[in-house]
Amino acid sequence: MTEEVVFLDDGFVPLASATVSIFDRGFLFADGVYEVAAVLDGELVDLDAHLLRLERSAKEIALGLPMSRDAFGATLRELVTRTGTTEGMVYLQVTRGATPARDFAFPAPSANVRPTVVAFAQTFPIVRSAKGTKGVAIVTVPEVRWKRRDIKSVALLGQVLARQAAVEKGAAEAFFVDEDDTITEGAASNAYIVKDGVLVTRPLGWDILHGTTRARVLEIARARGMCVDERAFTRDELAAADEVFYTGAAAFVVPAVAVDGHVIGDGAPGPITRALREAYIHAVRGPRSELR
Ligand SMILES: Cc1ncc(COP(=O)(O)O)c(C=O)c1O
Repeated sequence: MTEEVVFLDDGFVPLASATVSIFDRGFLFADGVYEVAAVLDGELVDLDAHLLRLERSAKEIALGLPMSRDAFGATLRELVTRTGTTEGMVYLQVTRGATPARDFAFPAPSANVRPTVVAFAQTFPIVRSAKGTKGVAIVTVPEVRWKRRDIKSVALLGQVLARQAAVEKGAAEAFFVDEDDTITEGAASNAYIVKDGVLVTRPLGWDILHGTTRARVLEIARARGMCVDERAFTRDELAAADEVFYTGAAAFVVPAVAVDGHVIGDGAPGPITRALREAYIHAVRGPRSELR
């Protein structure tokens, strides 16, 4: 078992020999899209949803994917097997490839530039992570990103700076606050509050990533008879919430127990958040969970 095997372009290679051109448009312009899918019990979680979103992101930036959905799926499954990953994530990135000249405009079709495909796996605990079970502190930061946040683009500088601001304040995640004082989403997550038993999260649109975990969690919440209100909520509502949490493929459901230094509820993960986290884990394990 080794994480030293990665996928590059059309095959598996040792990490040490996986190199990409300095003219790759992903490197020069962040001209590419990506996906992160969880691995749980050695299986990919919600693979189809991730590959569908990859196709949508690629379409939105007019990037022709060089592999079919089935081929991507088979590659990621083989990556999990080859690396022996049982819990953690796979990362898949496709860029518009390497062009000889640095030019913002797309390479001409006649240039036959092939998109660059990279995939690797990483191992870390998700189900028993301290963040997921004990909860985390979060901070709010101004929304400074571009307007097409529904595209899972590798241009992540806004997220990088937000997460760094969180870490410098001893927090695990940052929620972006838009100009109208509403929360958009987290640096690498979708954001939620619970108030008087109602689960509130921003509706889908250009201003947030259409989270795969979000889709599952809302489905679970509705199936349990919870009242779900898909609307934008303000920073004041965040501070006054009974529970706060965020979701992401590589973290599942994570309780936030303090926001900008202000304690949420009694400072421990709330009952609705804990129930949703447990139900999500059960749902993604599927029938296999009955065996443990
Ligand atoms: C900005 C942003 N929003 C939301 C999410 C959550 O999406 P998903 O649940 O599909 O991981 C992510 C995941 O990385 C993200 O980067």
